[in-house]
Amino acid sequence: MGDKKILCVGLVCLDIINVLDKYPEEDTDSRCLSQRWQRGGNASNSCTVLALLGAPCAFLGSLAPGPVADFIVGDFTKRGVDISTVAWQQEGETPCACCVVCTASGSRTVVLSDMNLPDVTATDFSKVDLTQYSWIHWEGRNAEEQVKMIQQVALFNRSLPQQQRITISVEIEKTMEPLYQLFPYGDIVFISKDVAMHFGFHSAASALQELYHRVKKGAVLICAWAEKGADALGPDGVVVHSDAFSPEVLVDTLGAGDTFNASVIYCLSHGGSLQEALMFGCQVAGRKCGVHGYDGIVEQKK
Ligand code: ADP
Ligand code: FRU
Repeated sequence: MGDKKILCVGLVCLDIINVLDKYPEEDTDSRCLSQRWQRGGNASNSCTVLALLGAPCAFLGSLAPGPVADFIVGDFTKRGVDISTVAWQQEGETPCACCVVCTASGSRTVVLSDMNLPDVTATDFSKVDLTQYSWIHWEGRNAEEQVKMIQQVALFNRSLPQQQRITISVEIEKTMEPLYQLFPYGDIVFISKDVAMHFGFHSAASALQELYHRVKKGAVLICAWAEKGADALGPDGVVVHSDAFSPEVLVDTLGAGDTFNASVIYCLSHGGSLQEALMFGCQVAGRKCGVHGYDGIVEQKK
């Protein structure tokens, strides 16, 4: 693998995070316990975690120049995430999310403005130098364009021996019909509890068994289920499970799924088994739930 990077394609936004002890009543005027700005977005958060784990990584998403983008770029730089591939847009605004994190329940409620910034296109993606990457992860968004991006990688892979091919992962988190076209395109496909429930399943294991026919031959389907941990199913037909690793105190679950995805990708890309990757994903995601933000989720090597 050398020092090839992991590229995450998807959303970056500004999260304005309000921490409260309990969720506010509608039409009231309350005070929060603390408030902070944090770089957010699934693909962007996964880059934060990959960087903390020590994996060279890069982010590809859209940004519009301005003070919000300055904050975001500063934070990417601080974390050592390569943003040379970012698609700078001439129109639209960088998305911003108002987030409420409740310490009593551990809930996270997000209201995102994601309105007018053009998404990364397959044409933008064609400028990416694929020789730099060992793994590319797509957060499902503009799926039709993302399929075209993945096809570019598949074509590139065809010219390479197996060990040098780029691994493709996709995340289907939102319950939006167009995203379901991504199922057959990942070597690894992450689906959320929301998606599983939308299809009528009440457990990760049953969702995996019933949805596995949608993925391509040889692929792995993974489903995280909050405090119940996560399950995965590969071509051998055996469902693998890891329990969650609950923190002593549940503090902040915003980005737990992004942390899980990044940690699973990290482990698999370093030769870990599916079982090891699930456990590692749940361990790191569990630690994330016990801290605000991301600092402290990885034991730093001395
Ligand atoms: P998200 O809603 O952020 O997409 P999930 O709820 O699917 O994320 O959780 C992803 C992973 O994070 C789970 O597999 C689990 O390991 C961990 N996790 C999430 N919530 C909790 C919790 N309350 N306690 C312990 N671990 C959790
Ligand atoms: C967490 C997150 C936040 C962002 C929201 C967007 O998973 O990426 O950082 O505000 O989801 O849906």
